[in-house]
Amino acid sequence: MEKKLIIAIDGPAGSGKSTTAKIIADKLKISYLDTGAMYRAVTAYFIDNDYSIDSDNIYSIMDSIIIEFYEYSVLLNSQDFTYRLRDNDVSSLVSKISSNKIVRDRMVLIQRNISENKSIVVDGRDIGTVVFPNADYKFFITAGIKERASRRYRELKLKGREVELINIEQQIKERDYLDSTRKNSPLKKADGAIVIDTTHLHLEEQVNTILKIINNN
Ligand code: DC
Repeated sequence: MEKKLIIAIDGPAGSGKSTTAKIIADKLKISYLDTGAMYRAVTAYFIDNDYSIDSDNIYSIMDSIIIEFYEYSVLLNSQDFTYRLRDNDVSSLVSKISSNKIVRDRMVLIQRNISENKSIVVDGRDIGTVVFPNADYKFFITAGIKERASRRYRELKLKGREVELINIEQQIKERDYLDSTRKNSPLKKADGAIVIDTTHLHLEEQVNTILKIINNN
């Protein structure tokens, strides 16, 4: 059997890490796991069920959560949350929900289970630092705030959303701050991670940069 390969890709919102990670997985014909989608699904589940992150039974709520991916769909306890992931209320609350240790411990466990016995590209904030510190390859993808905001703006516009660039930039700045200053698994470059600044790179260049590194090793 071929050796199992784990590729960890971390970085801030709008850095292009998810799109890049998906293409890399496709090209290498291995699995892909979007961990941001998991935190977003949990956030939508909390909002839709009126659960509070400060509630006393947070442990039992989280303990009963099962997340599954089917093609492009994310199911949480068998309910499809895919259409909710990019909604404004979810984007605004996801940093708070994902800063909770009980939430994170459950997500990390599910992420490791999903990745068991297969080669996979995993993207998120803490993949190289916490989830897979021994990953075969670790990348930290970043880009300037203006560029990241306009990428997210174009993505949402294409989906027909009514959004303002200035609001998106503000939201990303807030999320950057919360994600990188939180106590539990803050967003930071993992030891040994290769930094790729994509501010002036096209998608194809980002993908090729990473593939070159992987194929030359
Ligand atoms: O990658 P994204 O924008 O879909 O992630 C949404 C939020 O989820 C992000 O603001 C922080 C959180 N997140 C996290 O804490 N850890 C991860 N591994 C992935 C995402």
